[in-house]
Amino acid sequence: MPIDANISFSGTLIAGLVLTILTVLTACERTPPDYRDPVTLPVYSEGDADNGAIIYEEACGQCHQLSPGSNKKGPQLMNIYGAPAAELEDYDYGAALTKSGWVWDAKTLDPYIADAQKAMPESKMLSDPMPDASERADIIAYLSTLRMAAPAIDSDGKPIDTEHTQMSDEPVEIEDGLENQPAASF
Ligand code: HEC
Repeated sequence: MPIDANISFSGTLIAGLVLTILTVLTACERTPPDYRDPVTLPVYSEGDADNGAIIYEEACGQCHQLSPGSNKKGPQLMNIYGAPAAELEDYDYGAALTKSGWVWDAKTLDPYIADAQKAMPESKMLSDPMPDASERADIIAYLSTLRMAAPAIDSDGKPIDTEHTQMSDEPVEIEDGLENQPAASF
């Protein structure tokens, strides 16, 4: 093999190796986040969802986030309305909630938000009680509006590239000058 060809061959080989390593690293960093099925119940209309969003930020936001994989002190709450309790595999639920068999609709959410410790002895949720029924109704209305489509799934049932599918509730950032190009390729 002439020297020139040899050099460019090694260059290609190294570029290929770097690419492979990067791909493997990226794959390792991202544990596929678990998610709930899309909500099928109608929006809860007994409360004011806009007001609920404000109360939610103060009363729930410190422990809960709203996108798959983003579990904090509490599990993320996307698609919680109508979902079975303790469903996410990437969150470590308490035994009481896991065994409860509850489904999260207004009937279960109301007493749970009012006083989780009372509604479910040995609950891991140590939030302040919320005695105001209309505030609770507003939060339930807000929770019922949190809806996200199911992600694209690969043959193993794992979400594909969750950073760029509809599973992310973050707006896709478009760099200056790229407005006319697709924001992401799937
Ligand atoms: C101090 C932290 C904290 C606050 C504040 C808090 N939560 Fe939680 N929440 C948790 C924890 C921890 C769990 C898991 C409970 C368990 O495993 O027993 C949880 C569980 C839940 C669940 C069950 C989720 C599932 O997957 O089954 C719902 C619903 C919920 N919280 C709603 C709320 C709402 C609504 C608010 C605001 C009114 C709120 N939480 C405030 C910590 C908190």
